[in-house]
Amino acid sequence: MKARVWIKLVLAIAVISISGCEKKDATVKEPEAKPEATPEVKPEAKEIRQMSANKESFGKTPDGKQVDLYTLTNTSGIRARITSFGAILVSLEVPDRDGNLADITLGFDKLDGYLGVHPYFGAIVGRYANRIGKAAFKLDGVEYKLAANNDVNHLHGGIKGFDKVVWRLEDLGVKGTGAVVKLTYISEDGEEGYPGNLACSVTYTLTEDNNLGISYEAETDKKTVLNLTNHSYFNLAGQGTGDILGHELMINADKYTVVDEGLIPTGENRSVKGTPMDFTTPMTIGSRIGQVEGGYDHNYVLKSGGTMALAAKAYEPTSGRVMEIYTDQPGVQFYTGNFLDGSVTGKAGKVYQKNYGFCLETQHFPDSPNKPDFPTVVLLPGQKYATVTVYKFSTK
Ligand code: GLA
Repeated sequence: MKARVWIKLVLAIAVISISGCEKKDATVKEPEAKPEATPEVKPEAKEIRQMSANKESFGKTPDGKQVDLYTLTNTSGIRARITSFGAILVSLEVPDRDGNLADITLGFDKLDGYLGVHPYFGAIVGRYANRIGKAAFKLDGVEYKLAANNDVNHLHGGIKGFDKVVWRLEDLGVKGTGAVVKLTYISEDGEEGYPGNLACSVTYTLTEDNNLGISYEAETDKKTVLNLTNHSYFNLAGQGTGDILGHELMINADKYTVVDEGLIPTGENRSVKGTPMDFTTPMTIGSRIGQVEGGYDHNYVLKSGGTMALAAKAYEPTSGRVMEIYTDQPGVQFYTGNFLDGSVTGKAGKVYQKNYGFCLETQHFPDSPNKPDFPTVVLLPGQKYATVTVYKFSTK
């Protein structure tokens, strides 16, 4: 399993470096100017000294389970904090064009916030990210019934999905040029209605070239369905500072899956051309959102069709922060925090209003278990589920 994660990640990073996209790596301003004559510090030595992966306590669940908080840092000053509760990305501090760090993800300062009801801030979502129509699907003629937790439909893994369980720490440390935390979870046969004992792992890797990789692996002992993602809400100007409507966004997709009123795909993949859904060339999120009923909450069919490639790129003009997302998944759910309504107070006492964050959830298409024409989400015993999404940070 370990070797697989590494091969996937190395391949992913290789694809990103040869993809030819403009890049200016984010750097933190030096605290003071260095005199000309200062002897050169070998970059390797500096990297090893400053890159780190640490663990501290984040508290306990109501049933007494210990919850950890892991901190990954690189030499540019990027700092990612991840908790074993829900394998949630708690915060992600990234420099702006002047080197000032800001936390660009919505969430909570303390475990308590994550224990309560919240819209999946930073969480790993499973077993099935997004919706399964009428909360049921069939495999080999056997119907599996799931919790209907989104009207009549099943959303984000059910009542107690992967975002609400305590993951086990398998690995934490600095490996080569990456600070790594690997978490595992065994989802038992029948959990939330899904078949098969499923052994999963999620590995967050922060590299020196400002990539935060999330790789997912799983194996089952019975035929099942699986679709894992991360549900971070981003605001590249800094979490809680306002809405995200001024961000420029490119999504590398010329089609999206059309949905019914319950947000279940009808089966039609429609062209974005000439519509407010078109982000093939960068557009501000707010420029046409008023023409999209309820705001954006759509699955885009990536041009890359399930091979590792650039899926989306977001740029926030005031800070200069740029985030590129690379994935091997066939789709990405673009969601503009339409259900945020000021009822949640998050990190640093910030109140999250409508459109205060956007999500780009790399995924298989919603309701794939009931849509034979969509790319398959079936996992068989003996097969290895392995996918990678990489978030790359720079400034311009
Ligand atoms: C996803 C869904 C949205 C919403 C959020 C969580 O992005 O597509 O409709 O359920 O998660 O609030």
